[in-house]
Amino acid sequence: MRDERRIRDCLDTWRPGHTLPQEFYTDPEFYAFDVEAIFGESWLMVGFEVELPKPGAYLALTIGRTPIVVLRDRTGSIRGFFNSCRHRGAQICPDGHGKATRLSCPYHQWTYELDGSLMRARLMDDDFDPSDHALVPIHVETVAGAIYVCLSETPPDFAAFRADLEPMLAPFRLRETKLVHEVTLVEKANWKLVMENGRECYHCAACHPELGVSFPVGITPKFAQEEGERQRAYCERMEANGLEVGPRDGPWWQCARFPLNEGMISMSRDGKPAVAKPLIDIDGGDLGSFRFATEPHNFTHCLGDYVFSFSAYPVGPEETHVVGKWLVREDAVEGIDYDLARLMETWDVTNRQDRDLAEMNQRGVNGRGYRPGPYSPEGEAFVLRFIDWYVSRVRTRVGGPTLRVAEVA
Ligand code: FES
Ligand SMILES: [Fe+2]
Repeated sequence: MRDERRIRDCLDTWRPGHTLPQEFYTDPEFYAFDVEAIFGESWLMVGFEVELPKPGAYLALTIGRTPIVVLRDRTGSIRGFFNSCRHRGAQICPDGHGKATRLSCPYHQWTYELDGSLMRARLMDDDFDPSDHALVPIHVETVAGAIYVCLSETPPDFAAFRADLEPMLAPFRLRETKLVHEVTLVEKANWKLVMENGRECYHCAACHPELGVSFPVGITPKFAQEEGERQRAYCERMEANGLEVGPRDGPWWQCARFPLNEGMISMSRDGKPAVAKPLIDIDGGDLGSFRFATEPHNFTHCLGDYVFSFSAYPVGPEETHVVGKWLVREDAVEGIDYDLARLMETWDVTNRQDRDLAEMNQRGVNGRGYRPGPYSPEGEAFVLRFIDWYVSRVRTRVGGPTLRVAEVA
């Protein structure tokens, strides 16, 4: 166990409402702590059930230094395992999507059933018991088509989150969609800088002209929950259609629907739908965006016509991989119902701009001149929540007082 007193001492110098001390964004020990204490103990949104269409379809990915694999088993259930062979520990499935009738380790071909049980291991003694050497399972939950995993043996409670997200996400029928595009951006920035940037739109008006066409970049504090006649009319129209506006918030999640800019139906270059076949066939898909976000690493926008999901994975003290995924209705045909370049361009260009911002942030934070600065309570309300949540998670490990600035419903 590393010396957590260093982390505690450093956190004791933190002022609530301010960015973190430098070490939290730069130091390898602090990074290793985050991987273990934050990413190892939280529910992580790793993808969608439609990425695993048939038994044997898998998605392998690495959380910090821990490879995992999520798959659909022969009964159709989604399961997850540590992706480490029970022989000598090799990574079994390469990272990415794949399909296999059984999981066979490339090293010495120990072979596992899709339920994790070891079915074949050559040249072992008679007293070798395969049942002692099944793959180690991880916790998996699915909500209305989204997949969450937790590496901890004692995951945080999931039920309250499910109760909030399920009714708001279900109308999009994500199990009847398909993944049509995925991009991984390598960002030379600490994962917290990536997420702080992703939790605010204080920067959006100046930095995201393409997003600003449809996204209400000027509205604060919680993205787009403005007051006034337009918001009231939007809420009435959504509720008349049986679509709850929210927000529904918990300690590590936020779920809310909000209107796009006047006259805009989707997040696209001109605000028109990017997919001819809507996910929800009401008002031509003119439903604003349903945004759900979970700490530590995800936000997802569900529009009338497509879904865009963003998940950040820490790779090093100053490196993060951001995985972006785009989903459309499963019967939408590329070239007829949607043009892929047009579908992806708004979020793709926005993510690249955000990468540049996070890297610029990291460079400045690395300098001797860095001093923790105050967040805007109005413009960075969700960043304050993120930082409060992060600090409280760190405090549960290292001890000391938790001081909150942001309110959590
Ligand atoms: S390490 Fe997997 S079979 Fe040897
Ligand atoms: Fe941004």
